[in-house]
Amino acid sequence: MRSLLRSVVAGPRWPSSLGALWSQRARLSTHSQPEGFVGSASSNSKHLILSSGIDRWPSKVEDTNAYIGSLSSQLNLLKIKFSCSDARPAASPTSTAPPAEPAYALTLYPDQIYFPSVAQSQIPLLLQRLESGNPVQGLDEVSQRGKSIDLYVCTHGERDCRCGDLGRPLFTKLKQATATRADIRVFQISHIGGHKYAGNVIAFPSGDWYGNLTSEKADELLASLDSGRELWSHWRGRLGLSKEQQIELLRQSSDSSSAPSSSQEAQDAGSTDSIQVTFATGGKDKVFSVPLGMSLMEFAKSKEIPSIEGACGGNLECATCHVIVDPSFVSKIPPPSDSEEDMLEYAVGRAENSRLSCQIKANKDIDGIVFHVPSM
Ligand code: FES
Repeated sequence: MRSLLRSVVAGPRWPSSLGALWSQRARLSTHSQPEGFVGSASSNSKHLILSSGIDRWPSKVEDTNAYIGSLSSQLNLLKIKFSCSDARPAASPTSTAPPAEPAYALTLYPDQIYFPSVAQSQIPLLLQRLESGNPVQGLDEVSQRGKSIDLYVCTHGERDCRCGDLGRPLFTKLKQATATRADIRVFQISHIGGHKYAGNVIAFPSGDWYGNLTSEKADELLASLDSGRELWSHWRGRLGLSKEQQIELLRQSSDSSSAPSSSQEAQDAGSTDSIQVTFATGGKDKVFSVPLGMSLMEFAKSKEIPSIEGACGGNLECATCHVIVDPSFVSKIPPPSDSEEDMLEYAVGRAENSRLSCQIKANKDIDGIVFHVPSM
């Protein structure tokens, strides 16, 4: 079986001259965060969060109990990030979960797939599900995609008191500020990495990591989420991107924030490290600057372009990354492989110029390209 979990984001080319690096560092310093802060988000492409129902975990969360310890070590082998949240599991186990053994609810991000009850004996099924990228018989799951923004605040004070001291007041403030909202959910989470950057928050489905937050910053964070923008001044990075790609994204944000305002998402198509890409969807053009080398499917997912799900993670097993290339750019992209052709048979709304965006990486030849996104 092909592994769903192999890396699908190739590293982009970075400025090689000292001058370019110096200019990049100067731009980053405008955000006043310590060395190593930007780029410190996990590069794993998936994060599985177990609803433990408790808000205090041992120093090492895998010591909580045998279920969590076993699952944690197996996910580690698959390079899936694992954490526990204080969320309570679903009220009643499903018919497929034997009641006599431990069972937990889990959520897979950034896909927002909820597994309401996974019994200990079903862990192999769960791992099969994660590796294949497809539902498996005997394991219930529900898509929660698009239903809410989920915020996870690290309050794990047993390992390092900073997350407990700063994270808990931050969690309380966020929870209070969103008490009447159904579109934002706030949870406590066990260790996520980088206690020295407390208070830490992960936002899904974007997968953005934020740090050095205090309770006074809660409203600012919520305002940025409401506006659909990242809070760049506290941005550590984004799940699934390499350290270099996270740094490049912040560099682009610095460029675009100093550009004249526009309805376009990005203005820095002239950057030597990125290209301009337009996703035409629902009668609206969204223009972005995409780092060189990045999969267009991964980028589209990070921006929540409708209809681009990339369910198989780029393994040519789903066709949910289908796009139609504008005719003026068809000749600039190498023809599809036999495997891509086969999978295109399953693409909804297939057209003459249909392609799978997971098979296209940003490169200079397609600078300015337009992708039409079929509605599902
Ligand atoms: S992401 Fe599944 S085929 Fe492209």
